[in-house]
Amino acid sequence: MARRTIGIALNGVTGRMGYRQHLVRSLLAIREQGGLPLRDGTRLWPEPVLVGRSEAKLREIADRHGLTDWTTDLTAALARPDVEVYFDSQVTAQREKALRAAIDAGKHIYTEKPIAEDLATAVDMARLADAAGIKHGVVQDKLFLPGLRKLARLVEGGFFGRILSVRGEFGYWVFEGDWQAAQRPSWNYRAADGGGITVDMFPHWHYVLEQIFGTVKAVTAHVTNHIDRRWDEAGVGYDATADDAAYGIFEIEGGIVAQINSSWAVRVYRDELVEFQVDGTEGSAVAGLRNCRVQHRATTPKPVWNPDLPATEDFRSQWQVVPDNEEFDNGFKAQWELFLRHVVEDAPYTWDLWAGARGVQLAELGLRSAREGRRMEIPEL
Ligand SMILES: NC(=O)c1ccc[n+]([C@@H]2O[C@H](COP(=O)([O-])OP(=O)(O)OC[C@H]3O[C@@H](n4cnc5c(N)ncnc54)[C@H](O)[C@@H]3O)[C@@H](O)[C@H]2O)c1
Repeated sequence: MARRTIGIALNGVTGRMGYRQHLVRSLLAIREQGGLPLRDGTRLWPEPVLVGRSEAKLREIADRHGLTDWTTDLTAALARPDVEVYFDSQVTAQREKALRAAIDAGKHIYTEKPIAEDLATAVDMARLADAAGIKHGVVQDKLFLPGLRKLARLVEGGFFGRILSVRGEFGYWVFEGDWQAAQRPSWNYRAADGGGITVDMFPHWHYVLEQIFGTVKAVTAHVTNHIDRRWDEAGVGYDATADDAAYGIFEIEGGIVAQINSSWAVRVYRDELVEFQVDGTEGSAVAGLRNCRVQHRATTPKPVWNPDLPATEDFRSQWQVVPDNEEFDNGFKAQWELFLRHVVEDAPYTWDLWAGARGVQLAELGLRSAREGRRMEIPEL
């Protein structure tokens, strides 16, 4: 079978997301399945070029996976004609410079979110990318998760009737790093290094809300920094200056109210690390990363408020599991496949830098809402 190779420069591949989700679970997984089958019968074969700052770390990853192409010289990687795509999963603060260089070099770009730290930069990059005539995409992995796929299916099938509200609960306890190592990189907790839960999570909530429920019209947020002292990867104490919790209300077209708590200072008493409850006139659903449960209008109990008696109903047992009905691949891999098809066979693709910019806009307006203590309307870009 004919094979077409596509060179992909992966920058930030030593990081959590770059290594595990993008290299191993996406591109190497595509190779393990024999490449990506294209419409004309050709198999597309991703050829990663690992880019980063540490020669030793890159070599170690390359050796571990039988790869031979790695460099600490981004300019050289971008100058190679066989490299057609530039992918960025560096820390957010380093993204702009590298994306601009890749656009200048005429490469198609695919990037982790947030695409920039502020809206003006995000819009500028989307414009530049359009003007350069390159294809561009931003990671919106949550949309490809089984739980949210099933939720989207319920919306598309009209299960809810009129959707009234969405309640999202995201978070878990991120250890401070003194007596137990933190399970997230320390830059996330320093404002000067591009950290903060609002810039990290609001872009996710934007595409989830926009694509499943509708345009986000306004945001009201309270953002705070609960834990102000943490210990880094080397065990050295530092001031945690970035927000670690964001409590947001998002108004969606059609009168839907979404309220999402995001926190790295909360202990989990839920089934999954993120869960969304959606209530509609005909039924409700609770969706997490993998699972989704529903309760129809016809099976809704009628509890009566009486604090003098123990609860008479086992509420959790009254929900019904939504079946998979399809096979779900890794969400990052599924989106990589769509992006690569977009690049090589012009398949439709809507998760572009403009979508990424709308996510940055929501984060920026959320932070402003918190700072100024007011509701912010979201202008169309
Ligand atoms: N889609 C998602 O669900 C998701 C989840 C987590 C993070 N992210 C995004 O992915 C990006 C990377 O996050 P991560 O958690 O993998 O971070 P990480 O700290 O594990 O990795 C960061 C990468 O950037 C590189 N880097 C380049 N310049 C750097 C510098 N000056 N300082 C520190 N590192 C530098 C590091 O070498 C490393 O390869 C961020 O933009 C983040 O917002 C996305």
